[in-house]
Amino acid sequence: MIREVVQVGDPVLRKACEPVTRFDAKLCALLDDMKETVRAHEGAGLAAPQVGVPIRAVVVDVEEGFFEFINPKFVWQKGEQTGAEGCLSVVGKAGTVTRPSKVKILFQDRRGDKYSLVARDFFARAICHELDHLDGILYTDKAVNVHSVEGE
Ligand code: CO
Repeated sequence: MIREVVQVGDPVLRKACEPVTRFDAKLCALLDDMKETVRAHEGAGLAAPQVGVPIRAVVVDVEEGFFEFINPKFVWQKGEQTGAEGCLSVVGKAGTVTRPSKVKILFQDRRGDKYSLVARDFFARAICHELDHLDGILYTDKAVNVHSVEGE
């Protein structure tokens, strides 16, 4: 089911999200819906608070594949990259954000199993953007030259 994406101004986007403790059917349904929602909007990622659920779960949909990260945490962040970003919760805008160029994260999957992953370039950018959502941070807080984009 495609869920409604919460827009900037809604307080749920500014919450520090709670860790996921129940790896149950409700979590699976949420993650399935987040996948459907991010694909419907052709986004690179979506965080649970963006569909109104303030828990630490994100999806990332990039060249490297489709990923679900539950309770993700940075192990390290290296380097620097500067590039354009947008957000499904800030429709019709884009801005330039400097992010690490390479990151390592620890996370759980929907069953609660633990993994680590190293990502670079755009994949690393998408992870940084989505993990910020879990702490109530929007890319517009970090971006320079946030501007309107046509066709959205
Ligand atoms: Co976003």
